[in-house]
Amino acid sequence: MTGQDLSGHVAVVTGARRGIGAAIAAVLLDHGATVVTGGRDGALLARQAEELGERGRVIPCAADLRTATGRTRLLEAAGRVDILVNNAGGFTRASTTRDTTPGDWQQQLEINLTIPFLLCQSVLPGMIERGWGRILNIGSVVASAPQLGNAIGYVAAKSGLVGFTRQLAAEVAGLGVTANVLNPGTVKTEHLDEYFAASDTVSEQTLSAAIPVGRLGRPDEIAAIVPYLVSDASGFLTGSVIDINGGAIHA
Ligand SMILES: NC(=O)c1ccc[n+]([C@@H]2O[C@H](COP(=O)([O-])OP(=O)(O)OC[C@H]3O[C@@H](n4cnc5c(N)ncnc54)[C@H](OP(=O)(O)O)[C@@H]3O)[C@@H](O)[C@H]2O)c1
Repeated sequence: MTGQDLSGHVAVVTGARRGIGAAIAAVLLDHGATVVTGGRDGALLARQAEELGERGRVIPCAADLRTATGRTRLLEAAGRVDILVNNAGGFTRASTTRDTTPGDWQQQLEINLTIPFLLCQSVLPGMIERGWGRILNIGSVVASAPQLGNAIGYVAAKSGLVGFTRQLAAEVAGLGVTANVLNPGTVKTEHLDEYFAASDTVSEQTLSAAIPVGRLGRPDEIAAIVPYLVSDASGFLTGSVIDINGGAIHA
């Protein structure tokens, strides 16, 4: 597709060290963007940057996004943010409405909703001033379809991400800035393998059985659409939710 050359653009991808974020960082490099890779482990990010460096310019930045200092460090490493991919997310403990503690709820909302909002808020003025910007928030299929074995605060946060992205998109439509949500279905990542290892009831087989395509997704299958979503070619696409889930959507 034409108009997907990202040369000259600086992209920030949070949670880029592994999984879906790593796959997104790689395709953005392949399309010519300079990519700031966010994560918390500086040594692992540096090692990854060496490998990814063959594909383009990578700026690894170790920062805990729960702190204002960490968020500032990430944005300063970029210098200018043309493309923001809020991918960092997840939850540390599956929990139902009945057994979620205030701490669980807080953790689930913080990384999946509050931090994406704060980063959007920080990058918007520059994008508006330059008349061009692309925001892509990585949500989840759980915003449309309940999934047992999940975390209630995570579901609330990913659902909130949809509402706030649509509202933000409307606020800046016409100023050259788009904002969209990409909702992956279940994707085979290291994180998911850890989750399977810790669960007595949920396995790759049980989750695959609920997906019409009959298997989990791969990170590269989610990342493949991202260059389009953050390029010139997608200037008319804003306030949208893009589902990639092997047919597992119920909404
Ligand atoms: N995998 C799936 O099946 C699936 C399905 C639907 C949606 N998603 C969404 O897709 C995104 C990526 O998922 P994934 O499975 O690839 O997850 P992952 O491998 O666990 O990656 C999440 C990343 O977020 C980063 N992160 C977490 N807390 C952070 C913090 N406080 N500060 C900075 N970075 C932080 C982690 O960085 P460090 O490792 O460096 O700490 C980690 O690399 C998430 O938003 C997830 O909710 C995933």
